[in-house]
Amino acid sequence: SRREEDSYDHFFKIILIGDSHVGKSNLLSRFSDNKFTLEFNSTIGVEFTSKTLQIDGKIITLQIWDTSGHKKVRPITDAFYRGATGALLVYDVTKHITFVNIQRWLADLRNHADPNMVLMLIGNKTDITHEVTVLTEVGKSFAEKESLYFIETSALRSTNVEKAFLELVDRIY
Ligand code: GTP
Ligand code: MG
Repeated sequence: SRREEDSYDHFFKIILIGDSHVGKSNLLSRFSDNKFTLEFNSTIGVEFTSKTLQIDGKIITLQIWDTSGHKKVRPITDAFYRGATGALLVYDVTKHITFVNIQRWLADLRNHADPNMVLMLIGNKTDITHEVTVLTEVGKSFAEKESLYFIETSALRSTNVEKAFLELVDRIY
């Protein structure tokens, strides 16, 4: 008989990408454990988190891969992208350069990943309202142009975090 953790109907690998400090790890910890950390601990290597969901009576296991946004400390790209069916591309709405760099992350993704991968663009840190430099409309129209799904989140306030992951899964599924 199968072990409990192997008893799923669907298994999806999801990856988190985007510049360092945009909040990838906190989006993940908010989604998986409802945890948020104020101090910055840049991710070292690759971290995996599993989360099981039940959708329409089916058990769906997500394996979410997180890594540092610093390219020079990132491990081999191929293994990171291999087998992924969904990606969350994250920028920081208060740091315009992280939005500009989404273009590079997209290029990287399109070079290494499955062309059928479902992509979701996330503008994170919407709670810092007085410092927004990437307006919602700008993020949204870029996403439309690049055929990406789009959502704005706050890992700190827990706004739209679960929705972002669930919508991604919904589109994969
Ligand atoms: P790397 O691992 O270096 O690639 O960074 P990361 O993208 O994983 O960023 P991380 O989740 O570590 O967050 C970076 C900093 O931003 C931390 O100090 C977090 O507390 C903060 N942060 C993350 N999400 C939010 C948010 O929604 N709002 C605010 N105000 N701060 C956030
Ligand atoms: Mg991180």
